Formats: sequence, structure tokens, C-alpha cells
Amino acid sequence: MTTSNPEWWKSAIVYQVYPKSFCDSNGDGVGDLNGIRSKLDYLVELGADVIWLNPIFASPQVDNGYDISDYRAIEPTLGTMADFDALLREAHAKGLKIILDLVVNHTSDQHRWFQEACRSRKNPYHDYYIWRDKIPNNWGSSFGGPAWTYVESVGQYYLHCFAPEQCDLNWDNPEVRAAVYDEMRFWLDRGIDGFRMDVITLISKDPALPDGPVIQNKAYGSYYAGCATGPHVHEYLQEMEHEVLSRYDVMTVGEAPHTSADQAQLYVGADRGELDMVFHFDHMHLDYDENGKYAKTRVYLPDLKRVMSVWQEKIAACGGWNSLYWSNHDQARAVSRFGNESPEWREKSAKMLGVCLHLMQGTPYVYEGEEIGMVNAHFSSIDQYRDVEALDTFRDFTGRKGFSEADTLELLALKSRDNARTPMQWTSGHAAGFTTGEPWIQASGNEGEVNVEAAMANPDSVWHFYQRLIALRHNRASVTDGHYELLAPDDEKVYAYLRRTEDETLVVLCNFSDEEVSFELSAEVVWDASGLVISNEPDAAAELSRTVALAPYAAHVYAIR
Ligand code: GLC
Repeated sequence: MTTSNPEWWKSAIVYQVYPKSFCDSNGDGVGDLNGIRSKLDYLVELGADVIWLNPIFASPQVDNGYDISDYRAIEPTLGTMADFDALLREAHAKGLKIILDLVVNHTSDQHRWFQEACRSRKNPYHDYYIWRDKIPNNWGSSFGGPAWTYVESVGQYYLHCFAPEQCDLNWDNPEVRAAVYDEMRFWLDRGIDGFRMDVITLISKDPALPDGPVIQNKAYGSYYAGCATGPHVHEYLQEMEHEVLSRYDVMTVGEAPHTSADQAQLYVGADRGELDMVFHFDHMHLDYDENGKYAKTRVYLPDLKRVMSVWQEKIAACGGWNSLYWSNHDQARAVSRFGNESPEWREKSAKMLGVCLHLMQGTPYVYEGEEIGMVNAHFSSIDQYRDVEALDTFRDFTGRKGFSEADTLELLALKSRDNARTPMQWTSGHAAGFTTGEPWIQASGNEGEVNVEAAMANPDSVWHFYQRLIALRHNRASVTDGHYELLAPDDEKVYAYLRRTEDETLVVLCNFSDEEVSFELSAEVVWDASGLVISNEPDAAAELSRTVALAPYAAHVYAIR
């Protein structure tokens, strides 16, 4: 992969590293930059092209780095600026790119800008944030409580869509935008290769700050109605492109909560001059119930196919590009949620999920541990949790909502963000080989079975399968360029689709169930010859037939010419 192609990210695989949980080099129990550097060869061997690092900047860590107190300083528990420069230099030398998390919807309350803003209403930084004399609406924060907090020194309330320590910036103030662009240039000039932009669809607030609907059995109204895709968001992103991004050869992916595929066309459409990709949440919301994400519901496959296909089609139609993900630092482990984590099916369903996602149009994001089929941690006590959201949910469900502790813990075990944040499982040893010290969050406990050392030693492992899947994207043009076409939308067990180019058609068949099923290929698919491209079964037929028997969690890809 070379940077002479301005759209290099289209044939790339991004590997997401949660720095706190990836690899601890100094035994303090917290992952760090030198730990990441020690694993670069591992990522090269897997085939990753780009590393996305969750926030590494100075932060009081209320929300694990999503509360930044200094955009230009490295969080001391993760290392130093010299460590970062060494990491970037070595990554580049090995052909890896690094993108950083740009968290500019809000800053920490410890950021100098906010500290100044609280001194007086006349302070030049006061207007960097969003203040009101009275609480103007019913908005609740994502992490519980109201979205407005009072500051006595100025006699006003400031807005925080997330924790009170995460204060929303006032993007309507041109000085704020100029200051953010400066911070971006600081990192781009250091040589980074792009940004993942945190909740970027929320930066422009509706000036009316309207009440939001009270949904999902919450105590407060949703702020999304007044924040997501607000009146100036496209103008601000185009300005950012013009002022900053257009001057660098970088990629951008914006986290886009509360954004439909139709709205996304305006963020990523060709010639819009905004973002290269967005992360949508439509597939993540399919297993919600009246209590929001903390539900026992499993995704209904026809719904999943509908949502994924809408994004495949609409983003292609606007000349944009998709991001593809099953999991990240905010989501439960993919195998536990969409596959089958039982010992019998863990590896097979992990490979099936890999095929289903990696063969679609877009750039796949592999979250750390996904390549070995890591599963949820199954914590059984609230003391094991660390995440501000999990702790708030526990309080809210066992308090206001009247759930028992046991029921609440069961829901947290299914969906808590901490499932993704337990230490990366390198070995079966102490703390899964993540640290020699006491890890900041306990290892999942299944590292005896699921770890990198064992996976790399076993040619049939999920790891080796991911390596092949990634190589396929690098080497087969149809995987990047093919036109996506869904087959059998109503089939409740099989996710089948085509990727068509002039040269070949890929047929992707994934059994999402633990039963053997028979799948009929529609007559519209005509072929002279076919060949197996990749499969998670050793004895998959070498050629495709009209009626395919799919064993539990089988995944096959055939090429038709
Ligand atoms: C994004 C991040 C999440 C964080 C939130 C607030 O959703 O992915 O981890 O808590 O923004 O910054």
C-alpha cells in the first residue's frame, strides 16, 4: 500500500488499539505506548495497514481518555511524547499508519479552556462552551443525570452530553473552531495519518435547544434531537477540510451517532469535502429494547441484513465509502453478541462473522482481540466493572428502575463496554500476558482457552483465518470494488450476498445459525466456472452448486466467472 494513491484507505484494514488494555510495558497495570510499539510486528504479520489508537492525550480518565485536559500532551500513564514519536517512527518504518482519536465535541472540565471559562462571564474562554442562565431543556447526559451542570462562579449552567466532566464546546464560536484546527495541525505536522473523530455529528447544536423525547425508559429527554446533524455541521466539516485536512494525505472516519444512511450521504458523498467514512450505529441498535442497549434480545438476521444492505447501497450510490465493524471499545464482544461463544462454536462463528463483514464494501475495522475470537468477560460483581457508563447503569437499574442486582449484572455481562476493555489476551499466564503487575481491569478469565500464543500456534485458528481474510482484501480487487447485492433478504439463518465486478462475481454465504441449512442460489446467478475463495470448513466443496448445504456457522466464498 502506498500513499501515492490518495484513497489508500479503501484497500486498507484498520486495527483498533485500546491503549489502556493492549500491552503494558512497565508493569504498572495500564497498557502504554511502548507496549503497543512492542507489538508492531504482530500487527504487520496479521496484515493490518492502519492502527487507530483510542485517545492517548492527557486526561483525568473519567471516561478513559475521552475527557481530554491537554490535546498536546500524552497521558502520563501511557507514556511520553518521545514514546509517541518512537511509536510513529517505527510504525511508519514497518509500513503501518497511525490515526488518532479527535475528541472535540467536548473537553475535560480540567482543560485550561474550561478552567478559564469558569472564571467569569467576561473571560475570553467563556464563550468556548455552551452556557445558559437557567436549564433550558430536558436533556439527559449519556452517563446519567441531567446534561446541564451549574457553575457557581459564573452563575450559569454548562452543557455536557456525556459526563459532567466532559463539557461541550461551542462550535458556533469561530475561535473554538480555529483552536481545534490548531490542535489538529499539531498532530498532523508530527506525521500522523488521520483521525477517527469522536461523536462528530454532535458538534453543531440547534440554537433553540429544544426538549428531546424521553425514550428508552430514561429519566431525561434525549439530546440527539438538538445535537445530531445540527444546522451548521456540514459547514463546519467543510471548513475543517478546507483549513486543515485538504493539506495532508490522511484518512478520516467520523463517529456518527444518530445518523441515517440518507444523512450519511452528506457526510461522505463524493465531492462533499467532509469525511472519508462514518461509523453508523444502525446495526448496533437492533438488539435494543425499552431499556435501551441493556437488553437480552438477540439480533434478528433479516433486520441485520436490511440495515447493512441499506448502508452498502446508499453509500455506494453517493460515491462514498463504508466503514465496517462488529465491535469496538464501546460494544460487547462480537462473537458473544452476533455469533456463538460456546466452546463448540466460538471459533467457527468468529470466522463466519469475519467473512460476512470483510467481504462487504468498505474498510474493515478489527477491534483488538477480535482476531482471536475474544468473548465477553462475564463479570459477576459490580466491583469488577470500571466504566462510568456501567457504574451509572447499575445505579439507575437497581435504583430508579427497580431491577434486582442479579438481573442488572446479567445485563451488564451481556452489553457493558467493559467487555471490550478487558486486557488483550496474549498468553494463558498472569493477567493474560497483558501486564506483569495488577491490571487496571481484570482479564476475562477465559485466557486459558483464548489467547494469541495458542492461536498463532494453531493453523486452524481464528487468527490465521483473519490473516487470510485480510490478505484477500489486499489481493483481490473484487473485494474492494465489487458491487454489493443482497440475496434472500428474508432468510432467517443465512446471510448471502454477491460482490460483482466485470471480471468476477463473489458469492458470500454465511450461516448465522447452529443448524445445518440448505440454501438455494437464485437462478439469476449464472456461471461457467466457479472456485472456492475462502471457507471456514476444511472440506468445503471446491465448486459452487445451485443448492448448497451449509453446516452450523459455515461461511464460504466462491468466485464465479
Ligand atoms: C464516543 C466514544 C465513547 C465515549 C463518548 C464520549 O462514543 O467512542 O467511548 O464515551 O464518545 O466521548
